[in-house]
Amino acid sequence: MYDLTLERPEDALAIEDILDRAFGPDRQKKVSYRYRVGVAPIAAYCMVARDQDRIVATIRYWPIRLSRRKALLLGPVAVDPALQSQGIGRALIHATLARVRAAGPCLVFLVGDPAYYGQFGFNVVPPRIVMPDEDPGRLQCLSLRGASLPDHGARLYRDALPLSATPSLEGSPPIEPGQDERQDSHEILVAQHRFGHLAQAGS
Ligand SMILES: CC(C)(COP(=O)(O)OP(=O)(O)OC[C@H]1O[C@@H](n2cnc3c(N)ncnc32)[C@H](O)[C@@H]1OP(=O)(O)O)[C@@H](O)C(=O)NCCC(=O)NCCS
Repeated sequence: MYDLTLERPEDALAIEDILDRAFGPDRQKKVSYRYRVGVAPIAAYCMVARDQDRIVATIRYWPIRLSRRKALLLGPVAVDPALQSQGIGRALIHATLARVRAAGPCLVFLVGDPAYYGQFGFNVVPPRIVMPDEDPGRLQCLSLRGASLPDHGARLYRDALPLSATPSLEGSPPIEPGQDERQDSHEILVAQHRFGHLAQAGS
């Protein structure tokens, strides 16, 4: 049996080790990592699975914005490769989503395999909802307690930071909120065309 507990500061190194082994050393190049640079995960939702004192799995949540609305980004979630397919990942996701749900209406986004996350209620987002540079077929959302996606085109942003605290994101698109709606719409169209979507922002 594994204990599911909140992540503690001293778990950080063991978590990095599991992430490296589960995803490989290039994991930090994933688009979703841009949304975590310089942003603290939400401690109340970040949990680990422990086998006595050993960390065997991790899940984290981050604040993001959908246009100007607050939302959450789930991930990474990873289980020690030697212990996968035993229900640990599923248990961590259910336990943390219960915490998120208890806090009120919320949109939870993630990038991952729809074949796995459908069981938790996640759906691939419609083409009007965009994470620039990410494969739209892997961007999924779970609407909790009546939260709903906007009817118009919208894109995901890293949660706002004071400019002085913003680390360099060389090579990546600007992902800070505060741009006007026309710029949002333009970026949504560019992202859709890049991935072959014909739907227009706002459709
Ligand atoms: C994905 C992951 C978190 C799932 O946790 P887990 O404890 O191994 O899996 P669970 O026991 O909850 O679920 C197992 C089932 O999910 C399936 N599954 C696992 N990863 C899957 C994927 N990427 N797509 C579809 N199904 C998947 C397994 O085949 C298994 O199916 P079965 O029950 O029919 O045998 C874990 O396998 C992992 O860390 N993988 C590597 C990192 C990763 O891909 N993380 C997710 C990022 S999108």
